[in-house]
Amino acid sequence: MAAIIWTVVIAVFILLLFAAKTMEVLISSNWYRRWFAKRQRFLAKLSKGLFDPFKPKLFLDLEEHLKTLKGDVVEVGIGSGENFDHYPDGTTLIAVDSNPHVEKFLRANVEKVGDRIHLKKFVAASAEDMSCNGKVGVEDNSVAAVVCTKLLCSLTEDQIKKTIQEVKRVLMPGGRFYFLEHVAGNPWTFQYFVQHFLSKSLIWPTVTGGCCCDRETLYWIEQGGFKMVNSEKISANLTTEIFSGCEADMFSLWIARIRMSIVNSILVGFAEKGCYTEEKKLL
Ligand SMILES: C[S@@+](CC[C@H](N)C(=O)[O-])C[C@H]1O[C@@H](n2cnc3c(N)ncnc32)[C@H](O)[C@@H]1O
Repeated sequence: MAAIIWTVVIAVFILLLFAAKTMEVLISSNWYRRWFAKRQRFLAKLSKGLFDPFKPKLFLDLEEHLKTLKGDVVEVGIGSGENFDHYPDGTTLIAVDSNPHVEKFLRANVEKVGDRIHLKKFVAASAEDMSCNGKVGVEDNSVAAVVCTKLLCSLTEDQIKKTIQEVKRVLMPGGRFYFLEHVAGNPWTFQYFVQHFLSKSLIWPTVTGGCCCDRETLYWIEQGGFKMVNSEKISANLTTEIFSGCEADMFSLWIARIRMSIVNSILVGFAEKGCYTEEKKLL
């Protein structure tokens, strides 16, 4: 009996590894990136009810910040521009995304908000290297704020560390990094174990195109060397209205509901870069 159980466990593990490898190849293919860019608005609508309640405060903080530190804003991992409705009037935005196919949808969506937002440029680059390998990307100490929503969950820990250093590189002294991400739940809860099991067994990344539900994102931000970090981790309420106004078939809604009950620990806040001393040291 024990031999059968072990055979099944090992077979499932090998199958998952195979599926994860296939998924890895698939998600880096041009075909998938094109398809994902097209589907992004629809996918964003499915998780809108979970993330949108946190946006008014986040973007109000950004508005206040931009009154004291004037400058451009970078949104990294911008997708099709699901945050456009929340930006303060007159924002000058630099859009960064590693998928170049999102640009078309992003530009169409920015037109819908009229001249409230000025899209300065779209940079097809990874969050870990917004300089585009030294070519014209986002320059050092050049922007007042960086916004990042639902990106860090799909990066590896090494990519998260590099992204945070990149964010610091592009921020002006006193600039702020605003984030809204789903993260690991509270330690030793049932949800925490489910999240770790699903991520470590590769089930979650395989079925969600590379996303991980056990990320300790706050730890990496706190280790990033910012002057201060101001954040909250909140267990979002999954009410029945969460999908109201969302046109999707029953199957998609059920899948989205299950996904959200696993990723309803939301991290929201900002981190501020210090200023340079006369010896060019960062405070
Ligand atoms: C889940 S979507 C979120 C889009 C948008 N921020 C939102 O809140 O709706 C993640 C986005 O990050 C982009 N992305 C994934 N990995 C990236 C990376 N390493 N660097 C930059 N963008 C990345 C994807 O192409 C996608 O557009």
